[in-house]
Amino acid sequence: MSDHGADSIVVARVGEIAPGRTKKFFLICEGREEECFVVNHQGQLYAYINRCCHVPMTMDWVDNQFMTEDKQFIQCATHGACYLPDTGECVGGPPFGQFLTRVPLTTEGDQVFASAPTADESSSDR
Ligand code: FES
Repeated sequence: MSDHGADSIVVARVGEIAPGRTKKFFLICEGREEECFVVNHQGQLYAYINRCCHVPMTMDWVDNQFMTEDKQFIQCATHGACYLPDTGECVGGPPFGQFLTRVPLTTEGDQVFASAPTADESSSDR
């Protein structure tokens, strides 16, 4: 019937988030509620836990403001680390070379589901 897991939640409708825009949501990961966000990068949706690789804190000083002005990078508001929206890799700033924890997304009909990252997906920030 569907390929998203029982613990997945609907985080957006297809077409709801415009390119360069983001949307926050909460997800239970390993029994803990984590703040996460979806980003539309060039028409493709990606999602990450809202936690910088430098200091483990949220990245949006202004609520839901994650992107650089040119919409090319996810930027941490604290010390300015820049991450690639499609891979979560830090390409500038203190945690250079580290990756945000990716949240897997699946689409069914016009709904976008997120599910908790597996150990593989979250191992990059351990
Ligand atoms: S906390 Fe994000 S760059 Fe320092």
